[in-house]
This record gives sequence, C-alpha cells and structure tokens, in this order.
Amino acid sequence: MTKLAGQRSDYTFKYNAKLGRHGWLRLTPAYSVKLVQEIVAETPKDAFILDPFSGTATTGLCAAEMGMNAHLCDINPFLIWFGNTKLFDFSGNKLNNLEEIFNQILKKFPTKIEKDNWTPNLHNIERWWCGHTLPIVAALRTQIVEEVGEPSENPYSNLIWISFCRLIIETSSAAFNHVSMSFKGGVTKFEVHQVQEIFNSIFENILASARKTIRGKAKVNKIDSRNVEQINNIRYAHVITSPPYPNRMSYIRELRPYMYWTKFLDKASEAGELDWKAIGGTWGIATSRLKDWSPTDIDLPEILLQSCEKILHSGDKNSELMARYVHKYFYDMYLHFSSLPLLLENGARLDYIVGNSTFYGIHVASEKIYEKSLEMLGYTNITSTIVRKRNSKKELYEYCVSASWKRQRNLKTPTYNKP
Ligand SMILES: C[S@@+](CC[C@H](N)C(=O)[O-])C[C@H]1O[C@@H](n2cnc3c(N)ncnc32)[C@H](O)[C@@H]1O
Repeated sequence: MTKLAGQRSDYTFKYNAKLGRHGWLRLTPAYSVKLVQEIVAETPKDAFILDPFSGTATTGLCAAEMGMNAHLCDINPFLIWFGNTKLFDFSGNKLNNLEEIFNQILKKFPTKIEKDNWTPNLHNIERWWCGHTLPIVAALRTQIVEEVGEPSENPYSNLIWISFCRLIIETSSAAFNHVSMSFKGGVTKFEVHQVQEIFNSIFENILASARKTIRGKAKVNKIDSRNVEQINNIRYAHVITSPPYPNRMSYIRELRPYMYWTKFLDKASEAGELDWKAIGGTWGIATSRLKDWSPTDIDLPEILLQSCEKILHSGDKNSELMARYVHKYFYDMYLHFSSLPLLLENGARLDYIVGNSTFYGIHVASEKIYEKSLEMLGYTNITSTIVRKRNSKKELYEYCVSASWKRQRNLKTPTYNKP
C-alpha cells in the first residue's frame, strides 16, 4: 500500500462520489474505496473478510466487486438497511419493472401537494427545506408509500427510497464542507418540475449502478462489535475496517435527515439511545449517561490513562466529561479487540484505519493506544503507518494500525461485564 503524509483527498470519502454504488449516499466518515481496494488486493482470493464497523458498507462492496466474500457488522439500523441494499445482486428484469413503478410515482405525486402529508419530527425542519419545497417533498414521500410501502427488506423498492434520501439532501440546505454535516447560508426554493428532474436523474444513476453485477457476496449484520457473535460458524482471515474515531462525531447526527424521513428515527430521545450504543457516541442522552459511566476493573494501556489524566487536569469546564469520553471510547475498543478472536482464523490479519485527536491541546495518540491494547491482548506483528494528514493546521493524521492473530494456548482473556 502507498502511504504518504499529505492531505490526500483520494484517501477520503470524496473519492467515492462517482464510483457507482459507492456514491449512492454520502457519509463523511466513510473511507475511501481506493484505500480499501489497496488493502483488499493484499488479501488471498479465498479469504473471508470481516468489517466489524460497516458504516456505508464500503469494505463489503469493495470486496464483493473484487470477487471476494465479506461479512459486516453495525448497530445503526438505517446503515444496516442501506448497506444490505447496496450489496444486493439485482436482476435486470425486476429492475425494469421497478422503473415503471418509479415513473408512476413521478407522474402522480404532484396531485398530493395540497394535501396534509406526513413530515418528519426533525428539529427545526424549516432550516432544511423552505415552506415551498417541503410540501413537494412530503407529497412525493406519500406517493412512494402508496406505490411500494415504507422502507423494508425488499431491495428493489429500497432503491426508490435511497433515491428519495439523495433527493432530500440535494433539495436541502445541508453542506458537506466540514468534518460534520452543517448548513449552507440559506434554503433554496425548488419547483415541482425541478424536484421531478432531480429525482429522475438520481434514480437513473442509482438504477444504472444497480444493474452492474457484483461477483462476490457480502452482508451487513446487526452485531455490537464490543461483543461479537459468530455468523454461520465462519472465521475470517482479514479484518478491514475503520471504526469510529475518538472525535465526538455522532453518526446519528450525521444521518438524521435520512433516518427521520425513512422512519428509522422518530424522536430525539431515540437518537440519544442509539448513540449510546455506538462507540464514541455522544449525542443527547449519550452525554448525560457518560457522566455516570465508570469502567469495570480491567487493565488498560498506561498511555491511555495518562492522556485521560492530562485532559482531566486541563482546566476546561468540560474536562472531566471529555476525560471520561476518551476513557470510554478506548475501553469500548478494548472490549472489541478482546472479543474479536472468536471470529478469527489462525494467522488472521487486521487493518484498522483510525485518526488521532486532541482535547484542549492534549494529544490523544489513537494509533499508540490501539497498538498497546492489541499487544496486551496477545496480538502479534503490530505496526502503524500514516495514511494521510487530516488537517492542514493541527497535527491530525489517519493511521493504518495492523496486527495478526495467532491462536495461543494459555492466553488469559480478560472477563468483564458485557455492555
Ligand atoms: C467510521 S464509521 C465506518 C465507515 C465505513 N468504513 C464506511 O466507509 O462507510 C464507524 C461505524 O461504526 C458503527 N459502530 C459504532 N459503534 C459500534 C458498535 N458497538 N458495534 C458495531 N458498529 C458500531 C457506526 O454506526 C458507524 O457506522
């Protein structure tokens, strides 16, 4: 793998936008197809790949496109639904039928604009869509439900829903020029014919990439990676993943417009509950729960405890909370690394793409804490290399932390309360 320390945008999600299914929906923390392809290219062809933090299923799709098989895990129901649609091997004939249904939706929905259509319970919705555009989008949603029902296990109708997700973002004031999704200066007004044109062009694009056959098979499963479970007794030869970073990014926050419009979320309280299950989750109730959290008695790397101590004494009003945040993030990753061997083939290789972070000027060296955690748990051949620089000013980098797992006798695996 080529590794350079510049701010390589080809090693970020930006690279994926025009790559067929990889570009269906945008999630800023998705990693680059190019980077994953380079890692997958080093995997033996018959190896089964595991991604314990699937996100938008980039690893699974890269592997399947390269003719390999993969299993993925995530805890976010929207991402599991989305990932499995993205990984499905569609039949051309059924896609032709879907196109007819789509054309009916496009033709019929304007008659519903004056009606009182359902809109999601999204906080400050008028900040996303103006009073003119919102009823148009809501009418379109009602028509989709009438023709194909709500988002479901049916991968074909889900293509219409994924097109709808793209449409709501393209007609909204969402901006992607920051690490997290933010807002543009104002909302844009869209007329019915513009919404029809945009929706049609999105669907045509999605349909064209759904028609491309994928050679391998991959599937996303609802599994909490802090406490992994076996899937059909399979053991994996290569773990390729990018877990959350310790940077307070909330995937629920990033995905909220999609999750509310597709009814994967209804209330802000549900968002907090979901984020509490996510490693590094920090939204709503997840933050107040953190105040009462304390680790069970396990050994964690000294370098982690020192960083937490420095954050705690940094003098900021939130320093105690942030010290706890960092502690819990690496504690959860430690749980993950310790439960993982249940799924690994003897000699399995691990490649984790992760970023470091800073809290009140205190450097949190994620790669070093990962390395030490892996070492304490009996992994071998541990290395880390810089993939790219993330920010021009701060010393923020993305690393690839690699290791291997060899089955060992008499290795004492720690036990503690399951999350
Ligand atoms: C950085 S994102 C992965 C992005 C992915 N590589 C992609 O290209 O889209 C991390 C993912 O880990 C998931 N996650 C967080 N905590 C988890 C847990 N305990 N078990 C499984 N998945 C989890 C989040 O929901 C999120 O989708």
